[in-house]
Amino acid sequence: MSRKIIVLDTTLRDGEQVPGAKLNVQQKVEFAQQLKRLQVDIIEAGFPASSAGDFQAVQEIARSVGDTVSITALARAVKSDIDAVYNSIKLAQNPLIHIVLGTSDIHVDKKFNRSKDAVLEMGVEAVKYAKTLLPHVQYSTEDASRSEFEYLWKTIEAVVKAGATMINVPDTVGYAVPDEFGEMIRKLNERLKNLDDSVILSVHCHNDLGLATANTLAAIKNGADKVEVTINGLGERAGNTSLEEVVMALKVRENSFQCHTNIKTTELLRTSRLLTYLTGLDVQVNKAITGDNAFAHSSGIHQDGLLKDKQVYEIMSPEEVGAESMELILTARSGRHAFKNAVEKLGFDTSDVAEFEVLFEKFLTLADGKKEVYDHDVFYLVTNHRTLDV
Ligand code: KIV
Ligand code: ZN
Repeated sequence: MSRKIIVLDTTLRDGEQVPGAKLNVQQKVEFAQQLKRLQVDIIEAGFPASSAGDFQAVQEIARSVGDTVSITALARAVKSDIDAVYNSIKLAQNPLIHIVLGTSDIHVDKKFNRSKDAVLEMGVEAVKYAKTLLPHVQYSTEDASRSEFEYLWKTIEAVVKAGATMINVPDTVGYAVPDEFGEMIRKLNERLKNLDDSVILSVHCHNDLGLATANTLAAIKNGADKVEVTINGLGERAGNTSLEEVVMALKVRENSFQCHTNIKTTELLRTSRLLTYLTGLDVQVNKAITGDNAFAHSSGIHQDGLLKDKQVYEIMSPEEVGAESMELILTARSGRHAFKNAVEKLGFDTSDVAEFEVLFEKFLTLADGKKEVYDHDVFYLVTNHRTLDV
């Protein structure tokens, strides 16, 4: 049976921390409304203790879109942060407090300068306090992938006993590799199931080595039931795991994963474009799923194959992610088949074989001098040829 993977979108919290990505309250609400259309399960709306503006944005999102989507926001393991989260999300139907505290030696020594036991105790106290406010509390073991495993587990065990309902395992600095990360999740999942099988195991990956999607998928294969992701992979440094990549990998390879999400995939491109519009941050052209070239084909061999049957070079249809249709880019490497298709799409007849050969030669000459041949070039080429011929 297919397992449901919970999708938490943190574009408005981890994504918005990126230089240049700052949004105002109205823009954040507009983006949260689109995330609701996309049918994410949980929106992480911000870090309300960080500023009055962030508090207001989280509150507005909880009020305006928190009827069907769960809303969360981030707190450090201190009462004032937890209060700020509670007060900003309490109007949502299904609010969730998210607490973060490091578990790696580097975080414990350098960031907190306390003993491991003292840091663990801080986490337990924070969870106990959050539970007096709300039933749902997520605990993130920051820098988990660089933590000593037995201390990581000791922390998880203690915060679950204190009432945490979700455990989120972050690869905060994008250090993990898929087989190791998958194995860590498998071991944690096994122990967590024995401790309390109602607790949800989640992962949150960063892309410093370009492995965020691979690590997230490895974690799913090894028992993680929830993923934390962002649209376009927006996030600190090289970014977070990209929502669209994980969702489409699970969809296209459902037989392999036996997992699904609730995401309405036909809203993916629109969500990506809205984020680009609001932040002004472009997506690289060859980005999987949402890049401009994600469904564009330019080599003659590929174009010929696609025109015979789309499945020859397409593993998902552009329509599935909300794009118009596959795009055949005409270049000097395009063959007769693609050129003929472009000419006919513009309404011209191509039945005169001899004339078509002349047109194709003219097209190759033009394409040799240009990067891309556009529809208007083809239109001009055909009309010019026919007018001169008359
Ligand atoms: O990267 C990280 O560790 C985080 C936590 C707050 C989950 O963003
Ligand atoms: Zn993060």
